[in-house]
Amino acid sequence: MNSYQLILTETKDRVGLITLNRPKSYNALNQQILTELMDALAHFDKQKDIGSMLITGNQKSFAAGADISSMVDSSPEEMRKSPFIPTFGLIRDIKKPILAAVSGYCLGGGLELAMSCDLITASETASFGQPEINLGIIPGAGGTQRLTRAVGKSLAMEMILNNRLLSAEEALSFGLINHVYPLDEYLERSIELAQQISRRAPLAIQTAKSAINAAFEGNLSEGLEKERDLFYDLFATEDQQEGMKAFLEKRPAVWSGR
Ligand code: CAA
Repeated sequence: MNSYQLILTETKDRVGLITLNRPKSYNALNQQILTELMDALAHFDKQKDIGSMLITGNQKSFAAGADISSMVDSSPEEMRKSPFIPTFGLIRDIKKPILAAVSGYCLGGGLELAMSCDLITASETASFGQPEINLGIIPGAGGTQRLTRAVGKSLAMEMILNNRLLSAEEALSFGLINHVYPLDEYLERSIELAQQISRRAPLAIQTAKSAINAAFEGNLSEGLEKERDLFYDLFATEDQQEGMKAFLEKRPAVWSGR
């Protein structure tokens, strides 16, 4: 394992634990911390005795977003040439499951990072948001896409257009995260969850991750086309005839399953 300055790494019984460690800036994500994170993930991904990885921060902050000081004076050309946003994308090459264990701030690029993981757990103090609108920009590392798919259009609009923050309980109720744990237990319980997954059939786990991501990433046009075909096909069934006739005749339908 390489030596890192802005992250800490350790192994916890088949789980590769990576801790973002820039506490003075609430773990703001700059190029170096992202590069170190992706390097550590790639390293653990190759280790036979590791089944999953867990990314965490500290109790006050998972990550408060991209490092604003490193972007403030950038032109569009400089932003386009920068490896910064593509570095976020490297997480998609990782085959083993990745869990994000969040406490405190999970904002902007921090939420985009968490949403790039496969499961998200949180302490009861976590708060989730995409506050880029306050900076005169929009999310650039997947926030408009992944958040919309995770919580639906209306809530994503409100979070991104009007900086609505979600508490941990809200994030759980909207399906953005998997579990909320008490503050003094969240890390240990998240590691336990990652360890459970790590003990399962490795190839099936990686295949399942890949298949679920295919469903998540599928193209809306293709999905709509598929839905339309299935919709038309149902007009060949007796149940469609019966259901529609029963409605028009104001009586309960009797289904034949044909
Ligand atoms: N970038 C750089 N520095 C940051 C930072 C960020 N995203 N978030 C916090 N910091 C720094 C602050 O500048 C401050 O540094 P100094 O002590 O040197 O002044 C330190 O962390 C503590 O921050 P605050 O004094 O602001 O602490 P607070 O408790 O009053 O507020 C906070 C905490 C609500 C997280 C607030 O810091 C905040 O709003 N941060 C910015 C959040 C944000 O806008 N994130 C989106 C970034 S853009 C992005 O992520 C684009 C993308 O899609 C990739």
